[in-house]
Amino acid sequence: MARLGVNIDHVATIRQARGGTEPEPVTAAALCELAGADGITIHLREDRRHIQDRDLRLLRETVQTSLNLEMAATDEMIDIALAVRPDYVTLVPEKRQELTTEGGLDVAGNLAVLKQGVARLQDGGIPVSLFIDPVAAQVEAGVLLQVEAIEIHTGCYCSARGHQRQAELAKIAAAVEFGHTSGLRMLAGHGLNYSNIQAVVAIGGIEEFNIGHSIISRAVLVGLERAVREMAELVREA
Ligand code: PXP
Repeated sequence: MARLGVNIDHVATIRQARGGTEPEPVTAAALCELAGADGITIHLREDRRHIQDRDLRLLRETVQTSLNLEMAATDEMIDIALAVRPDYVTLVPEKRQELTTEGGLDVAGNLAVLKQGVARLQDGGIPVSLFIDPVAAQVEAGVLLQVEAIEIHTGCYCSARGHQRQAELAKIAAAVEFGHTSGLRMLAGHGLNYSNIQAVVAIGGIEEFNIGHSIISRAVLVGLERAVREMAELVREA
């Protein structure tokens, strides 16, 4: 059975919009775990636009399942990971201007630099996953780096329409098969939602899905009615 890792970055995005203390990502992570999440994923960005260093430290203490830290392969982030010790690290590409992670990491084109970063993390006892596009050359590069896992970027599949969607699904299936043949654990994520997830699960062989935006979006809508009712009661009581 596949596992679900819930990305709670956008809980922190809402908090940062006011620069205050709510909603608290630590509470959100605990609720995700109570509801059945198998892991909690956070992305500590260089610009700290959502998750903060204190969130990472607190979540390391409180997460009971598995804490996956997404980060760029920079010296600063590797130092932080080695100090805080998440259960695993997912290396992702990062551009300051992007709204979200655009495309997978070019592992094949950056082998030498990534080799050093991966080795530092693994020497420190932290397993590494690489976030890559479903392309054989990138999976092969991951095999060369001897990482523990690969997370396939599902964004193109999620944004494709019609026949193109089937073609993107086939690319994911091929990459998963290639990764398995090479002994890698295969994960997937990005853009997955309530209507496109099942076709990816049906491929088989993907151990874990990391999903954030659609879950937090749905939480806003399914929780809104109750939140308004509770406030309306307080207003009327007063
Ligand atoms: N996996 C990785 C490596 C990511 O960078 C992200 C986005 O932060 C996700 C999964 C989750 O993507 P989404 O928020 O679109 O579900």
